[in-house]
Amino acid sequence: MVKIPNLLVQYDHFLYGLLANLQEKNMSGKHKDLAKVFYCSRFGIFLIMEKAEVVSNDIDIGEFCDSLTDKYRDDKLKEFMWSDWKPSNWGYIRGKLVKIDYGDK
Ligand SMILES: Nc1ncnc2c1ncn2[C@@H]1O[C@H](COP(=O)(O)OP(=O)(O)OP(=O)(O)O)[C@@H](O)[C@H]1O
Ligand SMILES: [Mg+2]
Repeated sequence: MVKIPNLLVQYDHFLYGLLANLQEKNMSGKHKDLAKVFYCSRFGIFLIMEKAEVVSNDIDIGEFCDSLTDKYRDDKLKEFMWSDWKPSNWGYIRGKLVKIDYGDK
């Protein structure tokens, strides 16, 4: 999966996209449930992440929320794992649920 911030919409969105890529590069490997970043260019323009099967936003949100609550109850990165927790920011890699969008600031 390649992430390239979109320059065509709004310049500030593009800048947030760069920051998101840089944050994902920095956080990759810091928790076992974060999809791995293989490469990120120096200024965050181009990031390559392990490809996941994205979770649909149509799933039962209550059940999804409960599963995250159980999973991260005593986790030291609990708040980080919970940030922007919509289903489509999560995916499956080799049958395991991982976070694929963790570029929040
Ligand atoms: N590792 C990945 N494997 C497969 N698909 C991915 C991966 N990372 C992101 N995606 C897809 O691209 C979408 C957007 O990526 P991401 O969430 O990182 O950007 P975003 O700017 O936060 O977008 P959004 O506002 O839609 O959440 C994700 O919702 C998902 O569908
Ligand atoms: Mg997202």
